[in-house]
Amino acid sequence: MSRAFVNYWLGWLLFLAGLGLAVSGFVRWFVLPGQGRGGGGRAEEAVFVFARHTWTDIHQWLAVIFSVLVVVHIILHWSWVVAMSRRFFGQR
Ligand code: HEM
Repeated sequence: MSRAFVNYWLGWLLFLAGLGLAVSGFVRWFVLPGQGRGGGGRAEEAVFVFARHTWTDIHQWLAVIFSVLVVVHIILHWSWVVAMSRRFFGQR
């Protein structure tokens, strides 16, 4: 597996996880507002494709996946981060 192959697919996964976070976050925010789990004491939970708490679960797990991918992305580009920091802060 080449480095370019890993970076390419990691980039796609980061994009898709970010898109999923935005979609699930905005659905939860604008389409199904209100309390989180349990529907705020209401007998039935609001539904848009999935129940509100399922959107929250999707959002939370995508946040975990996204955070792991960001850490892997930074590790894979660490030498670039170090080189650019040295250039900007003038160390050799
Ligand atoms: C456009 C982007 C985003 C929008 C509109 C958004 C929106 C929201 C909303 C409305 C909630 C409350 C959900 C609830 O209580 O049911 C929430 C919670 C949360 N969001 Fe996002 N979010 C976005 C991006 C992100 C990102 C990038 C991350 C992390 C990588 C993230 C992580 C979380 C976490 C950990 C919670 C807490 C869930 C809980 O209270 O159980 N969100 N977000």
